[in-house]
Amino acid sequence: MDVQKVMVVGAGQMGSGIAQVCAMAGYDVFLHDLQETYVERGLATITKNLTRQVEKGKMTEEEKSNILQRITPSVDLQNAREVDLVIEAVVENMEVKTSLFAQLDEITPPHAILATNTSSLPITEIAAATKRPEKVIGMHFMNPVPVMKLVEIIRGLATAPEVYETIEAMTRKLNKVPVEVNDFPGFISNRILMPMINEAIYALYEGVATKEAIDEVMKLGMNHPMGPLTLADFIGLDTCLYIMETLHEGFGDDKYRPCPLLRKYVKAGWLGRKTGKGFYTYE
Ligand code: CAA
Repeated sequence: MDVQKVMVVGAGQMGSGIAQVCAMAGYDVFLHDLQETYVERGLATITKNLTRQVEKGKMTEEEKSNILQRITPSVDLQNAREVDLVIEAVVENMEVKTSLFAQLDEITPPHAILATNTSSLPITEIAAATKRPEKVIGMHFMNPVPVMKLVEIIRGLATAPEVYETIEAMTRKLNKVPVEVNDFPGFISNRILMPMINEAIYALYEGVATKEAIDEVMKLGMNHPMGPLTLADFIGLDTCLYIMETLHEGFGDDKYRPCPLLRKYVKAGWLGRKTGKGFYTYE
């Protein structure tokens, strides 16, 4: 199938990044959210990213304006009746996602693929909320989307092979590298990344080292671009906790138990960069 028109639902950090890379690859994109202010904020982030590219001489003003013209703001979900693909990037909450997918199933044309950017929720369960589970698939982008090369593509139990192939081909068109993964909690990325972050939080909690020392060990010793506590702040501590809980519940194994310090920070509202405070303080 040839994808031409895309709707990205959710104009936050991930959704706006996904809309940006789709528009950069030549797709017409609706950037949809519940309120105009959310969509405007997403568009402002995209504009800022593209302006930086122009300033660095990596893009012309004309290219920037062509990319922006391909993005249409949307607060009316009925716009989805025109699209070939929806990529959902809303809050990580199963009820919100299943209700949205049921609506999209009614609105979108029968050929449309419904993809989710969920970082750990079961694709199979989201697909079951629709009458087209064979057209539901996971398309997991990494943050920051315009920079990170990986897209984990997750097959649900019922995902059709041709749907997988369409999404794989599109991912390459987005200048990203697709990696095929089956539907298990946390997929591959978060099954491995989050226990590492959780272990770093345990090391801090137990007083093994300072936060700076923990980050330095992983940056200089393992060549990670960010230490695990800096990365946790970057991802959002609420998201980290949510993913650990999904792993803990999904596998039923105590090795995935979220660190009490992570719970405490989330309860305090110290969610990382987005709230100005997490393990570190941000201006
Ligand atoms: N949006 C768009 N572009 C950005 C950006 C952002 N938020 N942050 C940085 N960039 C761009 C910069 O403009 C720069 O572009 P050019 O090469 O074109 O000049 C490039 O990225 C490098 O940026 P910097 O030199 O400012 O900074 P850096 O070299 O330290 O890189 C980083 C920043 C790419 C974020 C790097 O620190 C990094 O890779 N960190 C780890 C990120 C990571 O692990 N992400 C995965 C998180 S887990 C996840 O997303 C999945 C999940 O489900 C939780």
